[in-house]
Amino acid sequence: MIIVIDGPAGSGKSSTAKAIANRLNIQFLDSGALYRALTYLWLAAGKPDKAEFFENLPETVLQAEYRDQNFFVHLNGEDITENIRTQLVANHVSEIASHSQARDFVNNFMRNLVKNDTYVADGRDLGTAVFPDADLKFYMDASIDERAKRRFKEMKQSNSSVTLEEVKENIKARDHTDQNRKKDPLKKADDAITIDTTGKTFEEQLNEMIAVIEEKLKLKS
Ligand code: CDP
Repeated sequence: MIIVIDGPAGSGKSSTAKAIANRLNIQFLDSGALYRALTYLWLAAGKPDKAEFFENLPETVLQAEYRDQNFFVHLNGEDITENIRTQLVANHVSEIASHSQARDFVNNFMRNLVKNDTYVADGRDLGTAVFPDADLKFYMDASIDERAKRRFKEMKQSNSSVTLEEVKENIKARDHTDQNRKKDPLKKADDAITIDTTGKTFEEQLNEMIAVIEEKLKLKS
């Protein structure tokens, strides 16, 4: 079984998906973290020519695991869980994610990963392109100001020196690239349930989504 949550940057998808995974005791898959991992790899290699970079991608060993309420990512044996959360990675990730070779690589990885367990996964195109037959689809959204404030607060906790304005500009730019790319743009699936979190507490919107999931599970059993 797979539940997907799509939506723009900072709409609360990852924290909600994690909370759902913990409540229902299922696995969590953070698809954005995988695009961030490829971006980190490209930056660490000194921003090589993209064609050459994507040609060598099959040699890359990517591993991901949800454990202790954290989504761990290893690249060629190195734990890069923390390294992928920098503003530098955020500034380049949508550009890397717009290439079809990056999307094919990440999509194959995800489809293999979810085969043997129950997952809640978050991303941009999961309900439309990656898992069109998902058991349940949500689309989370919130105003740009609220999304920027949330992400800024999160980044401040890890002592980042970024400003609220920078975070807001990055979110706007990523939304624009994600919504306008040719391959699998960010878009609400026709059969996704919209959750607008503006003005709602985390607990309120979480309970709303858990209620929908539990209803679905009841219907399935
Ligand atoms: O958590 P946040 O909203 O900042 O973004 P993320 O989930 O870490 O994703 C980072 C970037 O990866 C997004 O801005 C997209 O460009 C890309 N992405 C994507 O293209 N497709 C997905 N399924 C997930 C992420």
